[in-house]
Parts: sequence; C-alpha cells; structure tokens
Amino acid sequence: MKVLRTVAEFREARIDSTPPLGLVPTMGALHEGHLALVRRARAENGTVAVSIFLNPTQFGPQKDYDTYPRDMERDLALLEKEGAHLAFVPPVEEMYPAGFDTWVEVGALTRRLEGEWRPGHLRGVAIVVTKLLNIVRPDRAYFGQKDAQQVMVIKRLNADLNLDVEIVVVPTVREADGLALSSRNVNLSPKERQAAAILYESLRLAQQMYERGNRDAESVRQAVRRLIGEKPLATIDYVSVADASTLEELERIERPALISLAVRIGRIRLIDNVTLDRT
Ligand code: PAJ
Repeated sequence: MKVLRTVAEFREARIDSTPPLGLVPTMGALHEGHLALVRRARAENGTVAVSIFLNPTQFGPQKDYDTYPRDMERDLALLEKEGAHLAFVPPVEEMYPAGFDTWVEVGALTRRLEGEWRPGHLRGVAIVVTKLLNIVRPDRAYFGQKDAQQVMVIKRLNADLNLDVEIVVVPTVREADGLALSSRNVNLSPKERQAAAILYESLRLAQQMYERGNRDAESVRQAVRRLIGEKPLATIDYVSVADASTLEELERIERPALISLAVRIGRIRLIDNVTLDRT
C-alpha cells in the first residue's frame, strides 16, 4: 500500500493504478464499519484508495475536533491488511492552504436534521468530499448508510456538479446490541455505552409500529421519544420521520421514509437511522 501525503503524490501514484478506482473517504479511527466499505470497494474495483483526513471544516465546537480519536499508525496497518492500494493522508494545509475560500452550497437537504443541529457541518462535508472526488477522480465512492443525510447531500452535489462518480451506499454495521459502530463510541464510559443501545432499540420500535400498520408519523416520533426518555443519560436532539428523498417531515407514512435520530449520551452525540419502505 502506498501512503500519499500530497495531491501531487496522489496524482502520480494514480497514474499506474488498475482501473476501476474505488474511493473510501474517512476521518480515521477506523472500525468495522469503515472496513465494510473498504471490503466492498475491494470486491468491486481494481484499485482501492482510502482517504484519512480529519476535516476541520465539518466540526463545530473545537472540543469535538480536539477529542476526536486519532491513530494513524493503527489505521494504516488495518488498511494494509484489508488490501487497500492507496492511502491518501493529507495534512490540513494540503487541503486548506492559506487563502482557501471556496464552498459548495447544497440547498434544502442541508438545512434539515443535522443541518439544523450542527450549523456548518454539512457545508464542511460538502466541500471536503467535492475536493476528494476531484483529487482522486474515482469511478466509485463508498459511503455508509449510518450517515444517511450525508449520503443524500453527496449524491445531490455529485449529480448537480456532474462529477459522474458512482456513489455506493453500504448498510450500517452494528454491535451485537444494535449500536451502530462509530469512531466516537470509544469516548463512551461503560454506563454510557450500555445506555447508547437505546438508539437502535427505539428505531426498532418505530419499525415494528410501522410493520403493524401504524402510518401516523407523530405517534411513531412520540413512541421513540418516550422510550429514549426512560434513559436518564440520554438527551434527544431530534427524532425525525421524514420523506426518504427530500427529508421533509411526514404526517402520514405513505411514501418511503427515513426515521433518523440524534441523541446525546452524556457528552457524546450519536446519530442513527433506519428506512421504512412501503410494504
Ligand atoms: P467517518 O465518520 O470516518 O466515516 C467514513 C465513512 O464510514 C462514512 O461514509 C460513514 O457513513 C461510514 N461509516 C461510519 N460508521 C459506519 C457504520 N457503523 N456502518 C457503515 N458505515 C459506516 O463520514 C465521515 O467520516 C466524513 O464526514 C467524510 C465523509 C469522510 C468527510 O469528511
């Protein structure tokens, strides 16, 4: 595996790579969720590039950026083991040199859910992903369903800017109790880790209500809120039952829907989602 630190180095290494090229963008602190993306990319491409870049422009509070786990050595060893070919690990100045001042504004999709609760977050994601797609010029790029709104924003900008990358969405990888793998999970205390299972439990409850014929979105939101409310360590940011293509909140669940939530467990903010398809 070649480790490339600059855009010029990456472009040079890309020249003799076997097509097609698959890109897996990450912020490091790799776990089985990331590795599922890498494995899928390996199965579908001649060359797999993985980027590890802790993108400062998508963080709000400095503290969240400062406490985000980092372990480059371990990450590179894991990628080597998975058979990735190119690791792109630019320093911040390579991605955002002095004078950098261009942004990609994705519209309505970025104003809902995470956009409302983490101002600027999706703007940071949009610019860094646009840059990575331009630098790497992959045939395919791999993203996790875990960050459903992120995927929607990336599909939107990829289509609107004619980047022509095939966006592949990989199902959420979970722990045995259903907790979605996340780099931030390592910052949970044992008690918080136990409480965090409530995110997926409550999403399962929503799914069951739907499967039993409940189509009233507000009653589903309320049931989810009530269940999470039973955990003293949990504070809800939002519980959403929204149209799966526009993210507009639904009254009746009569179109494909995304149920998503953001919950703070102690000081750690976690997100998760499931989709409801018409049955
Ligand atoms: P990061 O949180 O490191 O996640 C990298 C990719 O792994 C994302 O596409 C994310 O959805 C996926 N992923 C994370 N946990 C997962 C899980 N449990 N199951 C399946 N996939 C999972 O998301 C980002 O980084 C950044 O916003 C990025 C797209 C790299 C831009 O900076």
